[in-house]
Amino acid sequence: MEFDTILVEQVESTAIVTINRPKKLNALNKATILELHTAFTNLGADKSVKAIILTGSGDKAFVAGADISEFAHFTEEEGARLAGKGQDELFNLVENLSTPVIAAVNGFALGGGLELSMACHFRVASDNAKMGLPEVSLGVIPGYGGTQRLPQLIGKGRAMELIMTAGMISADKALSYGLVNYVVTQEELMPLCHKLIGKITNNSSVAIAAAIKAVNAGFSTEGYAAEIEAFGACFGTEDFKEGTSAFLEKRKANFPGA
Ligand code: COA
Repeated sequence: MEFDTILVEQVESTAIVTINRPKKLNALNKATILELHTAFTNLGADKSVKAIILTGSGDKAFVAGADISEFAHFTEEEGARLAGKGQDELFNLVENLSTPVIAAVNGFALGGGLELSMACHFRVASDNAKMGLPEVSLGVIPGYGGTQRLPQLIGKGRAMELIMTAGMISADKALSYGLVNYVVTQEELMPLCHKLIGKITNNSSVAIAAAIKAVNAGFSTEGYAAEIEAFGACFGTEDFKEGTSAFLEKRKANFPGA
């Protein structure tokens, strides 16, 4: 498979998908989301692929979020459409894939990047990784499932704090929260993922697919629509205009408030 913004390779029965925009810290733009959609759809249908690792290129970032430059000028409707389409085409697709998907979080996983790692079946991080949902610092909220999956993984109180403070946590803190399952050095990250996959692929892929379906069925999907609606509404606010302009102009935001 040939793509512009991602790399896909296969080592025996494991596919490795690498988001490849290192100069933009692998931020998710429209093209990347579309290519990831195509790659995951194809890999999910490929019987020779027993597991997938998702990672970012370079040694600095997994994914530093959705590409802010692409949506800063969006209307409320366009904002809601962005979140709804992204959730459908990528985040829900990954979460519900029958093939196990491990996120190898090799650096910053912020905003849409943390959300993408949370859509994966579980996460392994390198010790330089930093994770957070900084959207409220831009005058918007997480729109790719972060308001739902973060509380599922770390509990409501910790998720509320992380979302409201727009803070970043270290890999070790993420481990203590249960957001990632292991923390290792960057050199050890991919070998550990392959080792875990070795244990997974000894088992029945039919039963694993059924387990993924059953685990996911235990979580309500009602909140996602509320998130899309609230995300879209943020695009009509002065705070959103100020937050995104400030980021692009590399200055601190001065929110006018309601
Ligand atoms: N969208 C678009 N571009 C992004 C981006 C994003 N989410 N994250 C990083 N970039 C770009 C920067 O604009 C910069 O581009 P430039 O070199 O053309 O100016 C490049 O990637 C490198 O980022 P930079 O900010 O210079 O690196 P840093 O080491 O100083 O800071 C971060 C790293 C991750 C702390 C910082 O990039 C950041 O805060 N990114 C945004 C995180 C965010 O809010 N994500 C949620 C989006 S909804």
